[in-house]
Amino acid sequence: MKKTDNQILVIFGASGDLTARKLVPALFNLYVAKQLPDNFVVLGASRSDMTDNEFRKKVVLESDYLKDKLEDLKPNYINKFSKKFFYEDLGGDYTSHYGRLQKRIADLDTKFHTAGNHIFYLSTPPSLYEPIAKNLAEVGLNNEEEGWKRLIVEKPFGYDLESAKNLNEGLQRYFKETQIYRIDHYLGKETVQNLLVTRFANSIFEPLWNRNYIHHIEITNAESVGVEKRGGYYDKSGALRDMFQNHLLQIVSLIVMEPPISDEPEGIRNEKVKALKSLRIMRNEQTIHDNTIRGQYMASTIKGEKVKGYREEDDVHPQSMTETYAAIKSFVDNWRWKDVPFYVRTAKRMPTKVTEVVIHFKTPHHQIFHDSSMNNKDNKLIIRIQPDEGILIKFGVKVPGQGFKVERANLDFYYSSLAQTHVMEAYERLLLDCMQGDATLYARADEVEAAWEFVDPILNYWKNGKDVHMYGYAAGVWGPENSDELIDGIGYWRNPGPNLTDDPGFCVIS
Ligand code: BG6
Repeated sequence: MKKTDNQILVIFGASGDLTARKLVPALFNLYVAKQLPDNFVVLGASRSDMTDNEFRKKVVLESDYLKDKLEDLKPNYINKFSKKFFYEDLGGDYTSHYGRLQKRIADLDTKFHTAGNHIFYLSTPPSLYEPIAKNLAEVGLNNEEEGWKRLIVEKPFGYDLESAKNLNEGLQRYFKETQIYRIDHYLGKETVQNLLVTRFANSIFEPLWNRNYIHHIEITNAESVGVEKRGGYYDKSGALRDMFQNHLLQIVSLIVMEPPISDEPEGIRNEKVKALKSLRIMRNEQTIHDNTIRGQYMASTIKGEKVKGYREEDDVHPQSMTETYAAIKSFVDNWRWKDVPFYVRTAKRMPTKVTEVVIHFKTPHHQIFHDSSMNNKDNKLIIRIQPDEGILIKFGVKVPGQGFKVERANLDFYYSSLAQTHVMEAYERLLLDCMQGDATLYARADEVEAAWEFVDPILNYWKNGKDVHMYGYAAGVWGPENSDELIDGIGYWRNPGPNLTDDPGFCVIS
C-alpha cells in the first residue's frame, strides 16, 4: 500500500450537492478501509453560514447519502470520523476573505500536524476556478516550500477549445500543471482502468488489437434517466459536451493508445494524448453531416408512466436545440487504426442504463464451415463498463452432432465473482490517488485540449451549419429512427440489455 501523507482537504462549494453525495461518502469508505492518514482534516468552505457542528451534521451525521453506511456502526466510530470536518464561511463570494481562510488553514495545520500538505477541491461553478486559484496564490497557498499543494477541478473543463485553453492558462498562472488534478469520474471506474489491464497485461489481445483483425469498434453510453433537475446546466451543454468530450473520449483514448513503457503517470498520459491527437478531425460540413447524428427525446409513456419530453423539462428552453443523443463515426489516423471505424454514442432516456465497448473482429478470411445458423460470424470482445461489470467474448463452437454446424457461444467474466475484493467507487479511488500524488487517472491540460479540438468543429457545425437536423426520438427507445444509418456494413448498433450476456436488441415494451 502506498503511503498517504498527513494533510488537509479544503473543499470549495462544500455546501453543494457533490460534497454530501459523492465526496464525503468516498472519504467515509476510505476511513472504514483505514486508508486515511493518521492526521487528516476536511475544511469545507462556501458561502453558507454554518458552524463546524452544523457542517458535520449536514454532510456526515444526518446525511441521507451516508445513512445506510452508518446504520450499524458504533456512535464513537462515527463521531471520530465527523470530528475530522471543519467549516469556514467565505462570506459573500469566493473572491474575498482569503486572509481569514489562510489563517484557519494555518491553525488547523498546526493543531493537527498536517505539515502544510493541502488539497484544494473546487466543487464550484467553473467560472470561479481561476478567481479561486488566483486568491489562493495571493495568500501563498500555492507555495510548496512547506508541504505540497494540489488543486482538484471538476468538469466541465471549458465550453469549447478556446475557453478550455483560457481556463488551462488561467489555472497554470497560479499553479504548476503538476499541481492541477482534473477529475473525470469515468477514469475512477475500475472497469475503465481495466481497459489498460485487458490490453497490456495479456498477450492474447494486443497482437489482434489493430486494423488487421478489428473490423470496427462500438461504444455505447446510455442512460435511462432524462436531465432530471439539471435542465439549466444541461441545456447549455448537451450530450457532446456533457459526456462525449470527456468521459467517452477518455475511453476512446484507452482503446486507441499505444502501449506505454510502464505504468508511470506521465508515460500513460503521453500515450493518451497521442491517441487523442490521432483522431481524424472532421473539418468540412459534409463530412460532419454524414458522420454524426444528434437527437432529442420527446414525451412518451414508459412502463405505463408518462415521461416528459426534453423541451418540457424544468429550466429547458421550450424550443431548445440542445442534443440529448449524440452519435459519431470517426477514424483514427495512425498505422494501427487506419480505416477502422469507431462508432460512439451517448444519450439520455434510452431503454436502459449501460456503458460498454464492443470490439468487433473481422470474420475469418476463408469460411470453411458453411453449415452455420449464424448470420453474424465475427468474434466480439465486449467490455462492460457498467452495470453487471465484466468481459464477454463471443466465439464460434461446434454444435454437437454430425457435420460442422457452428454456433456463437459466450465466455464471460464478472467483476461480482471477485466478491472478496472491495471495488472502490470512482471518487474514492480518485481522491486517494490525489492524496498520494498520483495523477495517472486525472486529465492533463493537453489531453483536455486535444479532446476539444476533435469536438469543436462538430459543435460549430451543429450550431451554425447548413442542413443540420435535430432528430426526435421517443423517450425510452434507442435514439432516432435513422441512428443505424451511421453504421456501415452490418448496419445496426448492438443494443445491449442490463445484463452482460443479454442478447442484443434489448427494448422495453410498455
Ligand atoms: C456526468 C454527467 O458527468 O456523468 C451526467 O454530467 C451523467 O449527465 C453522469 O448522468 C453519468 O455518470 P455515470 O457514472 O452514472 O455513468
